[in-house]
Amino acid sequence: MINISPEAGVTARDPRYDILFEPVDLGPVRARNRFFQVPHCNGMGYRDPTAQAAMRQVKAEGGWAVVCTEQVEIHPSSDITPFIELRLWDDGDLPALARIAEAIHAGGALAGIELAHNGMNSPNLSTREPPLGPAHLPIVTWANDPVQARMMSASDIADLRRWHRLAVRRALAAGYDVVYVYSGHNLSVLHHFLSRRYNQRTDSYGGSVANRARLLAEILEDTREECAGRAAVACRLTVDEGIGQAGITPEDAAEVISLLDHLPDLWDLVLGSWELDSATSRFAAEGEREPLMAGLKRLSAKPVVGVGRFTSPDTMVRQVRAGILDMIGAARPSIADPFLPAKIEAGRLDDIRECIGCNICISGDMTMSPIRCTQNPTMGEEWRRGWHPERIRPKESDASVLIVGAGPAGLEAARALGQRGYPVVLTEATRELGGRVSREADLPGLAAWRRVADYRLGQLRHYRNVDIYRESEITPEDALGYGFTDILVATGARWRADGVGRWHTSPIPVAEDANVLTPDDLLAGDHPLSRPGTAPRRILVFDDDHYYLGGVLAELLARAGHETRLVTPAPLVSSWTAHTLEIGDVQRRVREAGITVDVNRALTAIGTGGEARTACVFTGSESRVRADVVLLVTARLPRDDLFLALEERRDEWPARGVRSVTCIGDAWAPSTIAGAVWSGRRYAEEFDAPGPPSRDRGYRREYTALGPLP
Ligand SMILES: Cc1cc2nc3c(=O)[nH]c(=O)nc-3n(C[C@H](O)[C@H](O)[C@H](O)COP(=O)(O)O)c2cc1C
Ligand code: SF4
Repeated sequence: MINISPEAGVTARDPRYDILFEPVDLGPVRARNRFFQVPHCNGMGYRDPTAQAAMRQVKAEGGWAVVCTEQVEIHPSSDITPFIELRLWDDGDLPALARIAEAIHAGGALAGIELAHNGMNSPNLSTREPPLGPAHLPIVTWANDPVQARMMSASDIADLRRWHRLAVRRALAAGYDVVYVYSGHNLSVLHHFLSRRYNQRTDSYGGSVANRARLLAEILEDTREECAGRAAVACRLTVDEGIGQAGITPEDAAEVISLLDHLPDLWDLVLGSWELDSATSRFAAEGEREPLMAGLKRLSAKPVVGVGRFTSPDTMVRQVRAGILDMIGAARPSIADPFLPAKIEAGRLDDIRECIGCNICISGDMTMSPIRCTQNPTMGEEWRRGWHPERIRPKESDASVLIVGAGPAGLEAARALGQRGYPVVLTEATRELGGRVSREADLPGLAAWRRVADYRLGQLRHYRNVDIYRESEITPEDALGYGFTDILVATGARWRADGVGRWHTSPIPVAEDANVLTPDDLLAGDHPLSRPGTAPRRILVFDDDHYYLGGVLAELLARAGHETRLVTPAPLVSSWTAHTLEIGDVQRRVREAGITVDVNRALTAIGTGGEARTACVFTGSESRVRADVVLLVTARLPRDDLFLALEERRDEWPARGVRSVTCIGDAWAPSTIAGAVWSGRRYAEEFDAPGPPSRDRGYRREYTALGPLP
């Protein structure tokens, strides 16, 4: 079934992992093994259903026994616009849902659907329905929409049960084998009813755990009755909201499981806010919730699936053998490597592309754009561009490629071109391979990011057609003279030292005696300021980048003992990490590290004698700050000197046998690591392809079906 690469030999499965491939009965249906792709949204939803179908099919081919949709809105009063999820509001939604189920079946897996009424999490911006919840309270959305939920009356509850039943019927008609009742993540009305935080009712739906779980019990009963043995009923349940007695506690969850164990065919146990459940590797380790799960599993006679960014088969086996989980749930590991089960089955553990826990995948959903993954550049491109995480077409010419720069873009291009069978030489100016990934992986909490380089270097060992040269600075003359038909420049970017970024688009005044650093100085290795025990200095970090690096470097410096102040024009530190669900953890972490935080302020000048000036971004009023050192985390400039020099010598290319010179990754336009990996993959995918590059022709997409004009 798997066709990873021509060179990769398929070996037998290690008997230690046999237990992971045992079938599991989920009520009336049988899962072929213990690998369960739990529900995850993808920014495609109702807008890009065929792209989603293809993405899910690839996972089914990759060996997951159950492949689920994301949360599916069951009714117009559960409209979570602007987020783009699947919908099952009426029969008009059935074709899209059926296509996804068919694709999952075609890949050999059971199809699961997560029916969701989002209750107080539905602003209903599109439908304009008043939101519903257990109490008259403001709704709980990231945007703090100025809307309140109305306290559901007896007839609202009856309506909700009817809508859910209809959704179950439609899910069955669409061909799903596992139907979820969703009570998780503070994103479901059933969670809102269960949580003391929102449920202060005095009727039979409020008060005791049994009362707060009454609506969940009723919906489970209804779902069971509708499924009538045709599909398994799964219940996704929050087992800890992370706010102690104010919300759902593990004790509450234990009581719910004991009370309702006769109703679902499967429990899917999660932590209570999405942020907690999908914590990044910077803030939570793989499988950290094991003790909690172990206790809850003992209370149930039904199979239990749980999550924890599982990528190690040994950890998975331990979960099953120790009676913690029956099925290994995965969202992110299945995104980073849709073929994770197939690789374990084939004994090809070295080929697993391990999730790095960065949550770029979640940023797709949060920005309403198709899912992307740092490790797996084909994620979301399966149908749009026809990319596959394991397969790529073989070489189509006698071309040979020189790649300059072994960062994430160069490594992925080399790996994918190597897989295609082209002769490739990959050169790197320094001793270390991996570029920014290897450097940043040394920063606090980012060690797992090294996997981006490790995976690719591991794969490159399979390819005898790829040679790697370290400590090789390439001049334009070298590049043109080595005899390659194609030259790829992936030389990365450098941080600016003049204050230019989002806030200042021209340089700020910097005194000659000022001590100014950029992230490159700290990332270059063992910088004296980052070593604990060095003389403490007053350091001002100006973060106008707004992703993780400003916050991480401030933390590094504060932990090394420096008096650290972070100044940012944004209202929160590392404000873009709202899209990776880390923003709360970041604010806590910088404060715990003792960092002084000045938000809504810009650095305006770096003066002499350790004096800097900052200004309020709204009023412009200035303050003076003492700073021995200023670290500027603002913007980057491409390291594109080699590319530009080669472009200058374009006339010479034909005579030197060169047909193309291309620049990718940060050297073309600085972006995320995910962007760099993707650009490397795109180069390899489009190399020798007939027709114009995709930049000129776009990609496959679906068009809105027009209704009749009135
Ligand atoms: C991109 C993404 C989207 C998610 N969307 C959903 C969703 O629609 N419904 C849901 O119940 N959980 C959702 N989750 C949570 C996952 O199902 C899972 O519980 C969590 O990520 C922890 O598992 P993991 O460590 O295997 O990723 C999502 C997670 C990710 C990464
Ligand atoms: S984007 Fe990051 S967290 Fe998400 S699956 Fe890929 S590697 Fe894992």
